[in-house]
Amino acid sequence: MKNQVKITLKLAFMEKPWSGRFSEDTDKFVEEFTESVSFDKELAQEDISQSKAHVKTLLKAGVLTEEEAEKILKGLESIEKDISQGKVKWKKEFEDIHMNIESELVRRIGEVGLKLHTARSRNDQVVTDEKIYIKKELSEILRELKKLRETLVIKAEENVEVVITAYTHLQRAQPIRLAHYFLAFREAFLKDVERLLDCYRRADELPLGSGAVAGVDFPLDRFYTADILNFNRLARNSLYATSDRDFLVELLFACALTGIHLSRLAEDLILWSSEEFGYVELPDKLCTGSSIMPQKKNPDILELVRGKTGRLTGNLLTLLVVLKGLPTAYNRDLQEDKEPLFDSIKTLKGSIIAMREVIKNIRVKKETMEKKAGGFTLVTDLANYLVEKGMPFREAHKKVGALVSYLVEKRKTPEDLTLEELQRFSLLFEEDVFEILNPFKVADRRETYGGTAKKEVLKMIEIAKREEGL
Ligand code: ARG
Repeated sequence: MKNQVKITLKLAFMEKPWSGRFSEDTDKFVEEFTESVSFDKELAQEDISQSKAHVKTLLKAGVLTEEEAEKILKGLESIEKDISQGKVKWKKEFEDIHMNIESELVRRIGEVGLKLHTARSRNDQVVTDEKIYIKKELSEILRELKKLRETLVIKAEENVEVVITAYTHLQRAQPIRLAHYFLAFREAFLKDVERLLDCYRRADELPLGSGAVAGVDFPLDRFYTADILNFNRLARNSLYATSDRDFLVELLFACALTGIHLSRLAEDLILWSSEEFGYVELPDKLCTGSSIMPQKKNPDILELVRGKTGRLTGNLLTLLVVLKGLPTAYNRDLQEDKEPLFDSIKTLKGSIIAMREVIKNIRVKKETMEKKAGGFTLVTDLANYLVEKGMPFREAHKKVGALVSYLVEKRKTPEDLTLEELQRFSLLFEEDVFEILNPFKVADRRETYGGTAKKEVLKMIEIAKREEGL
């Protein structure tokens, strides 16, 4: 096998790998315009891991001798070490991270380094790096999301005895236990996890060995490579494997949607921390002031969580537009996938951590919440009270509607009503109606599975704790 391998050793480490076919140097502007090392250096570790696995596969295939493989592996390890200490200088002349590492290898170990790229194209190399990167980063995001969910469960448990009004259309709707609110967001983040795990599965398919487009003509044991690199499956079609960025679109979508959940939570808390609501107070250490208005304490951290959703959504759109209409297989346009990817991962991670800190440190102003949880939010239950006494719901709704107009006119709230007043609207009202005229009671009447009654909320907290291993 070894003798069949013909590697062109013409390439010196200072030349471009394709220089054999070219008669003039690359234009400087083109070099600047086409380079990607300024951002794909993010994939340096992944590229080295991949190359190490590739060398072992080439050895197993008889393409490299033991001695050659060992030299290359040692060279790669020394570069790896220097990268981790920030000692390697990346050069735009070598375009991307893949060629930078290769040229650095040749500089360090000489001509044998030129054999590394046998049976590999940057087309299968780059997408393999991306998948290794995504798997690593996803594991981290999932860990951060777990911590955020745990914080929400703990906050829920602390706030079972707090009642707040739920809003629909941003108008006060019905009282709920504050614990129910925190659990709602845990639910959203759990769905995000399901989506992200699906992205992980899709990334867990090894492209390496697909070559430029058609596979490679060396007997590579791709299962062996997959084992070394910890991939669960092999990409089954070289053409698809080198063209595919769908796994990335899905990931950017999952990141954007998780960001949108964080943003909606941030928006609620921004409103709640305003003087108008006065429901929560953010700790000083998480806020910033104004350079001109001394009284200001701004929730910038939450505003940024909300604002960063712009990038997350933008990154998804960028990639979708890059992909649309691309001819099948690798095109250089695909280089444009990296900045959105790195940006979304970094942005989302930061936002999750920021949100966890806020939730952990937020001070709930129980009294204000409670005070505003009563009033007109109770009247749905006055209608339901009449229904329980036998009145059809539509009729009860009408009667209580008239009662509401009366209260508005008199500038009163339902808690001010006397039995005599209530009975003017229906004789079905009796003394026991006063038992439900408080927000806790009203919340606790919602006992259906998934409802806000204390009994249900406590059950859901137990389930959540079990699921989180708390
Ligand atoms: N820097 C390139 C990218 O990010 C690597 C692949 C280049 N392949 C090629 N045939 N020019 O996509």
